[in-house]
Amino acid sequence: MHMKTPKTPIEVVVFDAYGTLFDVYSIGALAEKLYPGQGAALSVLWRDKQIEYTRLISLSDPNPQGSRHYQSFWDITRASLRYALARLSLAHTNANEDALMAQYAQLTAFPENLGVLQALRQRGVATAILSNGSPEMLQSAVHSAGMSALLDAVLSVDSVRQFKTTPTSYQMVQDHLGVSPSHVLFVSSNAWDALGATWFGFNTLWVNRQGLPHEAIGPRPHHMGQDLNEVLRVLG
Ligand code: LAC
Repeated sequence: MHMKTPKTPIEVVVFDAYGTLFDVYSIGALAEKLYPGQGAALSVLWRDKQIEYTRLISLSDPNPQGSRHYQSFWDITRASLRYALARLSLAHTNANEDALMAQYAQLTAFPENLGVLQALRQRGVATAILSNGSPEMLQSAVHSAGMSALLDAVLSVDSVRQFKTTPTSYQMVQDHLGVSPSHVLFVSSNAWDALGATWFGFNTLWVNRQGLPHEAIGPRPHHMGQDLNEVLRVLG
């Protein structure tokens, strides 16, 4: 759905990672196998807690130079899994924890994603990831999903020790790729990420794979679609 046409040409398409480029379904499927009947609740609570911790840390200590509370997304992901298990009164074992964490390194791409990245390459549009994920997590996921040759840059907020949605985290795109926000199309399946990116000044596309309502605050993303093919429609 085109809600607003970008005023300036898009030079770089920047993607969120988890849920946007990488299909996290396998995590929920394994959670269900390990904790029958609780897999969906566990994966939702795990994800929510993971994102909550990123915000808690970035809000409590937003100065990268003095970032006392920063932990990598990998460590936060493990801690939030432990919290979610305890909250749901599910048994924690090291074997289950390691198996669930290992899923993050073996994610697949959504079916349309590789074709969209290839089409962007053919058009000469640069592509990048900007993710909360720590560098090692992202590298293994990019490799596992077969995207290594299709991305020009993989940016982890780890280098600024702040998580999205701080302006410093989104600023990494300009700092690393030399492109102003008005020439960026930022693509995320997370509505909150699309909103933060819109506030920052990017052109934004919310890939609303789950048919969720719009966030009830802030401006809407410039574009919304059901899958990654919408990127090609936005670029026209
Ligand atoms: C990321 C999470 C938020 O990749 O999806 O940054």
